[in-house]
Amino acid sequence: MKEIYFNEPLKIKSSADNVKRFLDSGEPLHGPGKNILKIKNLVSKKLGLKNIFLTNSCTSALEVCSLAINLKTNDEVIVPSFSFITSASSFARTGCKIKFCDIEKKTLMPSLNDIKKCITNKTKAIVIIHYQGYSVEYLDELQKICKRKKIYLIEDAAQAFGSFFKNKALGSFGDFACFSFHETKNLHSGAGGMLIVNNKKFINKVKIIHDKGTNRYLMKEGKIKYYSWVGIGSAFLMTEFTASYLLPQIKNYKKTFFKRSKLYFRYLKYLSKIQNRKFYIPNNFKFKYNFHALVLILEKINREKFLKFLKKYKINAVISYTPLHTSAAGKKFFRGEKKLINTDKYVKQIVRLPLYDTLTFKQVDFICKKIEEFFKK
Ligand SMILES: Cc1ncc(COP(=O)(O)O)c(C=O)c1O
Repeated sequence: MKEIYFNEPLKIKSSADNVKRFLDSGEPLHGPGKNILKIKNLVSKKLGLKNIFLTNSCTSALEVCSLAINLKTNDEVIVPSFSFITSASSFARTGCKIKFCDIEKKTLMPSLNDIKKCITNKTKAIVIIHYQGYSVEYLDELQKICKRKKIYLIEDAAQAFGSFFKNKALGSFGDFACFSFHETKNLHSGAGGMLIVNNKKFINKVKIIHDKGTNRYLMKEGKIKYYSWVGIGSAFLMTEFTASYLLPQIKNYKKTFFKRSKLYFRYLKYLSKIQNRKFYIPNNFKFKYNFHALVLILEKINREKFLKFLKKYKINAVISYTPLHTSAAGKKFFRGEKKLINTDKYVKQIVRLPLYDTLTFKQVDFICKKIEEFFKK
């Protein structure tokens, strides 16, 4: 069996064809142009999301939110410790305080109880992570809490394009929502992202931040003759060139997700039959799911030993995020006021298995067979 990579970025012929068409058209590479407009229209039509800004990464989308809400040094932002670095660093860069919250044991999702404990009268925003592309079960309740307490809710939906909570797409619930089109995601443009601004009071401000602190949007609307510097911002835009690669994937996303679902359930069927297995699989199919990740939580098994065993057979399984509250930069904010018991305990036990478009059933069966052998020993 040849090497089984952890990820192979999605590659569909229509993406390459569209890039060629775009290059042949001679239209400006930077844009924004027709491809960006088409992506926004499609996302709006297929997922019901509005006020869409395409960015060069999810990190950029998070940074735009951070600048838009104008954080001060005394403000606090609640972020799960179990997340990607930029879920926290995008806000920390303003000088505000990050309060790390814990996760739930069974689901690895941010714990509502712990979020509530972290809220003070200085809380300005809560970043909720849709880990693995799943929604937390309490998203509507959290939305209500945030409204009542005048806290901004930011959905870090980096992994969650196309997933739902109840009958609405993720990205519909926060004041802001940030998505990733990094090549490790279901759909990608190498690097890329998307910001949704549901809180209308921020739309014009975001237009300025998104486009280098300028009022170019007014020029495009024909309201001013020349644009100029009007606020803080940076180069956050997705280029038209990048969008030309992404557009066909957005058009075909259901087909891609269906393929992922077939692989996911193939894994599930085999893994759930393994005798003496010492792991569980946190998943939730209550709401529409994008089948982003297949995660195992090992029980009383040394993770390094498990990964090394798989590697022997050229299977590249990986770990997930390392906790932020114990990282060199995160420690500055975390003074051990309270313990993040589940984060400390379960994050060490997480393993992610390969799951991508070009993975075959044969490879899935091989991976499962080796896992079965591991537990037979
Ligand atoms: C939860 C979360 N937030 C943010 C990011 C950053 O995304 P990007 O690489 O598009 O900046 C990631 C990346 O995987 C992520 O998992």
